[in-house]
Amino acid sequence: IVADKGQHRHYMAKEIHEQPSVIARALGAWISEDRTRIACAAENVDWARAPRLTIVACGTAYYAAHVAKVWMERVARIPVEIEIASEFRYREPPLPDRGVTMVVSQSGETADTLAALRYAQSRGQITLGLVNVTTSTIAREADVILPIHAGPEIGVASTKAFTAMVFCLSALAVLIARKRGEIGLDEEHGYVELLSTVPRLMSETIALEPQFEALAHDIARSSDTLFLGRGLMYPLALEGALKLKEITYIHAEGYAAGEIKHGPIALVDELTPIIALAPFDGLFDKLASNLREVMGRKGRVALIGDAEASRDLAEEVWRRVEMPAVDPLIAPYIYAVAVQFIAYHAAVAKGTDVDQPRNLAKSVTVE
Ligand code: G6P
Repeated sequence: IVADKGQHRHYMAKEIHEQPSVIARALGAWISEDRTRIACAAENVDWARAPRLTIVACGTAYYAAHVAKVWMERVARIPVEIEIASEFRYREPPLPDRGVTMVVSQSGETADTLAALRYAQSRGQITLGLVNVTTSTIAREADVILPIHAGPEIGVASTKAFTAMVFCLSALAVLIARKRGEIGLDEEHGYVELLSTVPRLMSETIALEPQFEALAHDIARSSDTLFLGRGLMYPLALEGALKLKEITYIHAEGYAAGEIKHGPIALVDELTPIIALAPFDGLFDKLASNLREVMGRKGRVALIGDAEASRDLAEEVWRRVEMPAVDPLIAPYIYAVAVQFIAYHAAVAKGTDVDQPRNLAKSVTVE
């Protein structure tokens, strides 16, 4: 398939805009014909007896695994360990009998991730490879291949592959939940319906692009930025910081909002924008109190949150973008779009090479 930029200035912009159709395609591939159940090649794994799922990945794929850990634990009640591939095998971690190890990789060629897969196989694990490129080495070597169906991704900073990974991992969590007897068919159907709303909600968020662009212009002038979130928004904060670093070269950190009092709050001043990922979920009150601590120290908070969240904090924050109100479990999809647009438009404002950032490669085949 030959990729082109269409009417977009950069591949990254095109790939951000493509996400609703990418997710719709992944949905079609991961559900049964009657649209009531999750269906994929992981069906035959003995999930009921698996003591643990270990997920290993690098970069953006690692943050997708981070989101998946929350879904898997909450929906499927399976213990999950997530690991950075370049650290995993050198520790020689013990892996449990009947354990399942999944590697997640857009390219399917990342050297550390491939080595992690081989390590898991040498320790008798059942292995799954969640990949975009189905002709890749990881796809060839894993026991079970799970394709994310994102289509070719050209921009070095991953966007649609991230959300497609998260999507397939969420679907897998639902399948595992059924296999472990945690949910019945009605609940499974409910999750399928919830996941079916994702493309529309992502389109609604894409329509907010001018607001993210305006915010990004202010971010582009800073030399440090902090992304904060809790729960499912913590990995999104990490991903937001990674995207910004990768393509704007602005120093950025992602932090679990409750942890900033143990260090990063010392960095807070009137020059450092703090991007708060704030859906109105069960953790919102805690997040709001973390943000008030920051604002009490002259921190400038950009609140990315739904109407309910905005109502509480609107008067106090520096900037805000009002997001669609969604079930907290699917918030990662729309907050991913938000952080992608912030990084993208900050990079465009700075004039950096968006699709080919310095020092980075799309696929890292050396250790
Ligand atoms: C490189 C890319 C990142 C990517 C990481 C893992 O560092 O620049 O965008 O997240 O590799 O790549 P993979 O193909 O294994 O998902």
